[in-house]
Amino acid sequence: MTTWITICDTCKREGWDATAMEQTDGEAFAALIEPRAEAAGIKTRRVSCTMGCERACNVIVQGAGKNSYSMGRFEPTEEDAMALVEYAVKHAASEKGQVPFREWPVGVKGHFISRHLPLPDAE
Ligand code: FES
Repeated sequence: MTTWITICDTCKREGWDATAMEQTDGEAFAALIEPRAEAAGIKTRRVSCTMGCERACNVIVQGAGKNSYSMGRFEPTEEDAMALVEYAVKHAASEKGQVPFREWPVGVKGHFISRHLPLPDAE
């Protein structure tokens, strides 16, 4: 089953400066995630605001019929993008979207905000 990373491209971390920065932190993070995800067979999409603004940068890892996860407080860095895609690959490989804690990349630990269970008719 396909796993998607939904990326908020309007996220701005504390200190973001509209006069000095050409792109939002969310746009910068999305640009780092997208090529890695594509190479790993993970789908991505950009959205404007997932209502977690104070925890920027925000993403959602989701797949039909699987547990989905809202995650935040990422920085638009290569390290965070790599950890997120690595986690998404494990999510894709799992039957129900449950990746054992021992397999979590270090870079996603502490970033989980909420889990969304699949709807009963999607399981
Ligand atoms: S702007 Fe990213 S969650 Fe609101």
